[in-house]
Amino acid sequence: MTKVLIATEKPFAKAAVEQMTNICKTAGYSVKLLEKYTDKSQLLEAVKTATAMIVRSDKVDKEVLDAAKELKIVVRAGAGYDNVDVNYAKKNGIYGVCVMNTPGQNSNAVAELAVGMAIYGIREFFSGKPGGELRGRVLGLHGYGYVARNVHRIARALGMTVKVYTRYSKAQAASQGIEVTNSLEELYAFSDVVSIHVPARGEHIKSVSMEVLQHLKENAIIVNTARKEVINEDDLCKFMQDRADVKYLSDIAPDCIDFFKENFEGRYYFTPKKLGAQTAEANMNAGVAAAEQIVAYLEEGDNTYQVNK
Ligand code: 3PG
Repeated sequence: MTKVLIATEKPFAKAAVEQMTNICKTAGYSVKLLEKYTDKSQLLEAVKTATAMIVRSDKVDKEVLDAAKELKIVVRAGAGYDNVDVNYAKKNGIYGVCVMNTPGQNSNAVAELAVGMAIYGIREFFSGKPGGELRGRVLGLHGYGYVARNVHRIARALGMTVKVYTRYSKAQAASQGIEVTNSLEELYAFSDVVSIHVPARGEHIKSVSMEVLQHLKENAIIVNTARKEVINEDDLCKFMQDRADVKYLSDIAPDCIDFFKENFEGRYYFTPKKLGAQTAEANMNAGVAAAEQIVAYLEEGDNTYQVNK
């Protein structure tokens, strides 16, 4: 029997799990739920007999893939798949393990958090200190994927001017009437708020470095709902020491959180855990898409969303 493991250290909303279970059961599959696990050994045990697996930010590394002898497909219910060893998965078994994500399904939730953080930052963290307004200011989108497109939609309604730096989605941005800057430096130089929306892979790793940061406008706010890996943290710390006007808000804390606590009081905010996609709607959209993609792959070989082809 086909066995689907839903392994989420950070669980989906209950309604999403019910819907995902229904989809799998209708296809004749059994479902095993492993939520809020505290030790990797629990995941290693649960994955042993799984044919398919749905995860969120859960680490699917070599050890997990080696333990998953029956595994045919892993779906990361979400956008970023930096938590899955996609290349090792490809080499696993006779045909390789297919890895998919569910692009776009949780993007509005992350976009709303990014805008919320921009408001929180510009209003001085609701401390009572006089802040500013987003209307009339320039928003710089670093990247133009699904999340950034939603941020753009909301920012327009707020009366912001939006600019973007993107290498791969220039045509989409231009079709929305957004000015595409020639370089990342230019984007950072013109933006009052920079919102980062690039994945933690390839050239994006540590792409927000001193080279780029040094161009930031006075009183700029950086909002990072992407991944901490896209920032060069040493450079960020140095830069924020030199520039007391700059604020940094991020979905989950950087590794250098202690340095921030000691040096930058009143200039940063970090979520207690990654919660950009932690809404009922995003859980439902991404979870259901993941279950449907598994059925489509196993029954019809549909690999549309495979990221390790
Ligand atoms: C994503 O990459 O989809 C988001 O960062 C959400 O991650 P999560 O599923 O761990 O909340």
